[in-house]
Amino acid sequence: MNILFMGPPGAGKGTQAERIVAEFGIPHISTGDAFRLAMKEGTPLGQKAKEYVDKGLLVPDEVTNGIVRDRISQDDCKNGFLLDGFPRTLAQAEALDAMLAEMGRQIDHVINLKVDRSFLLTRLTGRRICKECGTTYHIVFNPPKVPGVCDKDGGELYQRSDDTEEKVGTRLDEYTSKTAPLLDYYAGKGLLREVNGEKEIDAVTADIASLLRG
Ligand code: AP5
Ligand code: MG
Ligand code: ZN
Repeated sequence: MNILFMGPPGAGKGTQAERIVAEFGIPHISTGDAFRLAMKEGTPLGQKAKEYVDKGLLVPDEVTNGIVRDRISQDDCKNGFLLDGFPRTLAQAEALDAMLAEMGRQIDHVINLKVDRSFLLTRLTGRRICKECGTTYHIVFNPPKVPGVCDKDGGELYQRSDDTEEKVGTRLDEYTSKTAPLLDYYAGKGLLREVNGEKEIDAVTADIASLLRG
């Protein structure tokens, strides 16, 4: 099963992806996570990505497409994958279609997490992430048992450098101008499924899982 998660910054793509891949046994591929890892390691890819990610702008398509091509060709993606945060431009969507066609594969489900813009700033500025395992928390909506500490492994929680009010504004503008038009692209192919991402986290997971089970 090849799945795409779409939705604006803070819609809950990463939160839901963690849960859905655990249930369906497929890898979670987040281009944002891939860029942050490369930035942390200071690789050439990371240095390139940092110029854009730190400003809240999209990384150029040719950089991003290569990462996805390499990742979905790996063995663990044979039975499916969940792409979170890719594609984000029409050129990326077309490149993905071409890659999959070459592999004799296709997209099975596009899930759009619908969340009104008014929710997103609070979600993003309150987000905290574990340094060790990457689990996502929220200081109000999904708090860890002990503030600042991961429930799973005791790791320290940190805030993403692009989760400031100013950068969230830029990210939302990028989403509206470049990514939102993709919804029509997938609706036109009959693949788009809408999920109300404003419900509480468990309820959203249940709605997505029932759509995927068909
Ligand atoms: P990326 O990491 O993909 O960031 P994003 O799209 O801005 O999305 P987020 O990760 O911020 O939000 P999310 O939907 O995953 O929400 P989450 O589940 O964490 O990309 C970062 C950057 O990398 C981009 O700006 C760009 O520079 C670059 N990049 C990445 N992909 C690219 C591409 N394809 N092309 C070009 N550049 C690319 O939830 C958010 C918070 O809300 C959490 O605290 C969570 O606990 C809470 N929450 C979640 N669900 C709920 C709920 N139902 N109720 C209450 N709270 C909730
Ligand atoms: Mg995310
Ligand atoms: Zn952890």
